Amino acid sequence: MDDIAKKATLIDGKRFSEQLRERVADEVGRLATRGDVVPGLAVVLVGDDPASRVYVQSKQRAVTAAGMRSFEHSLAAETTQQRLLDLIHQLNADADVHGILVQLPLPDHIDPGVIIEAIDPRKDVDGFHPTNVGRLGTGQGALVPCTPLGCLMLLQAHLGSLAGREAVVVGRSNIVGKPMAALLLGHDCTVTMAHSRTRNLPDVVGRADIVVAAAGRAHLIQGDWLKPGAVVIDVGINRIAAPERGEGKMRLVGDVDFDGAFATAGAITPVPGGVGPMTIACLLVNTLTAACRIHQLDEPEGLAPSL
Ligand code: GUN
Repeated sequence: MDDIAKKATLIDGKRFSEQLRERVADEVGRLATRGDVVPGLAVVLVGDDPASRVYVQSKQRAVTAAGMRSFEHSLAAETTQQRLLDLIHQLNADADVHGILVQLPLPDHIDPGVIIEAIDPRKDVDGFHPTNVGRLGTGQGALVPCTPLGCLMLLQAHLGSLAGREAVVVGRSNIVGKPMAALLLGHDCTVTMAHSRTRNLPDVVGRADIVVAAAGRAHLIQGDWLKPGAVVIDVGINRIAAPERGEGKMRLVGDVDFDGAFATAGAITPVPGGVGPMTIACLLVNTLTAACRIHQLDEPEGLAPSL
C-alpha cells in the first residue's frame, strides 16, 4: 500500500466552467421567457494586438452561446482617449448594455485608470472600478474580477467551507492577487500575500493549506515547497520553449512546477484547462448579475458565491 505514490486530485476547471456556462444559459433563457431582460455585454478592443483579439473573440462567442447579446466595438490603435471616453459614456447610457469590458492592455497614450473610472460601476463586469474594489474590500456586494472569482469557485467546489484555512496568494496584481486575497479573507481564510520582494518564499508557501499562484513566472513554485495535501490553484499562463516537441516549439505552463506539485499537493489545477476557462465563465456570471441588479431582479441562487 505504502509503495503506491499518492497523487493529487486534478481540479478540472474546463468541466466546471462548462457546467457553469450551462447554468448561466439556463438562467438567461428563464429571464428571456419571462420577458424580463436579455443581458448584453459590450466588449471594447483598441488596437490590433493579436492575443487581445483572440481573447475578445472567445469572450464574445461565449456570450452569444449563453443567449446574451454581444456588442463589439473595435477601435483603431490611434483612437484618442477622449474618443474612447465618449464611447464609454454612450455605453453607460445604453439600456441594452449591462456589462462593459475594455480589453487591456490599452495603447500607451491611453490611461487605463481614467477609462476604468469612466465605466458605470454597475456595468463594470471586470470588477476593476475603484467602487467595486472598495465594495469587495468591505463586503458590500461588488462585481468581482473574473479570474479570482473563478479561483474561489474552484476552491469552494473542492473544499467546501474555506473558514480557518491558511491561504497564501503569490502575486499582488490588481487583476488577480489583490482581489483574490480580499475574497479569501471574506471567506474567513487566514491570508498571506507573497510577492517578488517576499523573503523566504518556500517557507511562506509551505505554511499554506491553499496556494494561489499568480506571479506570472513559469515554474516559480516548486513541488517540494508545498505542505503535503495543499490545494493549489495555478493562475499562471506562461509560454516556454518546448524543444522536446520540435525545434522552435512552445508550450504553456503555470507558475507551479506541476509534476513536482502533483506528488505533494492534495489537489491542483492543470495549465491549460484549470483556471483559464473559469475566467470566461465568470464573465458570463458577472454580466448576468449586472443585468439582474440593474433591473432589480432576484439574482439566480447559488450561481456565484456569496460575497
Ligand atoms: N486583459 C487580460 N486579462 C483581462 C481581463 O480580465 N479583463 C480585461 N478587460 N482585459 C484583460
